[in-house]
Amino acid sequence: MQQIPTIKAASGLRLTMRRINAILRPLDFMERRNREYGDFYQIKFKNAPPTVMTSNPRAIEDIFTASPDKFEVGRGNKGLAFLVGDNSLLLLDGKAHKNRRRLLMPSFHGESLQECSEKIVSITNKLCDRLQVNQSFKVRRVMQEITLRVILSVVFGIDSGARYDRLRELLTRLLETFNTPLSSSLIFFRFLQKDWGKYSPWGRFLLLKAEIRQLIYAEIKERRELLASGKSEPRDIFSLLLSAKDENGEGMTDEELHDELITLLFAGHETTASALAWLFYWVHYLPEVQEKLRFELDSLGENPDYKEINNLTYLDAVISETLRIYPIVAGTFGRILKQPMSVMDYEFDPKTWLMISIYSLHHREDLYANSKQFNPERFVQKNYTPYEYMPFGGGNRRCLGSALALLEMKLVAATVLSRFQLDLASKSPMLPVRRGLTIAPPASFKMVLKNKIE
Ligand code: HEM
Repeated sequence: MQQIPTIKAASGLRLTMRRINAILRPLDFMERRNREYGDFYQIKFKNAPPTVMTSNPRAIEDIFTASPDKFEVGRGNKGLAFLVGDNSLLLLDGKAHKNRRRLLMPSFHGESLQECSEKIVSITNKLCDRLQVNQSFKVRRVMQEITLRVILSVVFGIDSGARYDRLRELLTRLLETFNTPLSSSLIFFRFLQKDWGKYSPWGRFLLLKAEIRQLIYAEIKERRELLASGKSEPRDIFSLLLSAKDENGEGMTDEELHDELITLLFAGHETTASALAWLFYWVHYLPEVQEKLRFELDSLGENPDYKEINNLTYLDAVISETLRIYPIVAGTFGRILKQPMSVMDYEFDPKTWLMISIYSLHHREDLYANSKQFNPERFVQKNYTPYEYMPFGGGNRRCLGSALALLEMKLVAATVLSRFQLDLASKSPMLPVRRGLTIAPPASFKMVLKNKIE
């Protein structure tokens, strides 16, 4: 067995400083580590199990093709319970995780998904109607409004009413708690999670969360009554979860339902909003990309079929490249070993954390020459394996909403570009910033509506 490059973790104040650096400048941090230690190394802590970091496709293949029974992932995600609750899919493992995925998966694929197309386009059109010629707008905010409305419609099956409006407002405000690199530290440092009243960040967060909880519980109560009276047809994910029974014939409790709904709402819109904002940035930063994309979209003629948009080669490549160059989630969930395991030529003990750096993988020069250049053609010329390209992670934890996210990106891009000529408000290159658990375009990113296309 070979010896893996090992970093001895700092302790005390130096460890805290390193963590702050990794939170504030995550991509620089990963690049530096890769330069110093290569694509497969471990960090040894004094009083905790080691963490292994890899961006090596062979190691990734070993991890993703191993039996999921070898790992605990839910325990590793425990730090997210403050946001999604203890019963979220993210925190489940084993049979419970498998069953929950099996229940939810059909709603995010195939025909159910295609049924969302019309909704996505109509929401996009409605929000874009507000844009004014020669006025600038914050791109991420508009995209977030679109993706939040889409996920609310997919999960709850509702798109109007006082409760819906309030929920939308509260969810947006809640996520704004973590919308800067500094405020994102609240997620990573427990000692900052202190309730010093409604004017403190954590106090405000807790109040918003409590109100969201009340609204969701009220919705659950109403839906249960409707279901019991036989008036409600199970047509959305909410109803599906409400009617689901486990092997003992037990349905989900209100708390379990709440945690799953909140998980889908959060996981399902922040990420896609950032991805869309990046897409508009790249398409307008590089005129040749815009020209090619518009040419392809024009080739569909007026009122194209949603399926035709979904099958466009260049649009697909632009989206793939958008998610490659700055993957919204820079690393997968940690896989904690339950038993010894060898990965490539290295043997690891139980309790070791295996982490995959998606960002580092997507910037391997042997896979992506000139990796810092935005070049959609690489996805036209080559098919990458799931161990070489993975904006949505992989294995049994692969993103549940990947197909929805891709469909949304395609339809929103096609709808906006067919209606408007846009321009960047600033021509300077834009760098990613941390936003909560994700890597996003800065909240200040603006574009200007130049013309409406008649
Ligand atoms: C561009 C948008 C998105 C990106 C980049 C993204 C990325 C990811 C990644 C990297 C993971 C972890 C996978 C792993 O550790 O192997 C994940 C998990 C997950 N994502 Fe997404 N995601 C996106 C959109 C969505 C949407 C629209 C939903 C809709 C509900 C969603 C729901 C989930 C869920 C539920 C999980 C946990 C899966 C599990 O634990 O089994 N995501 N996502």
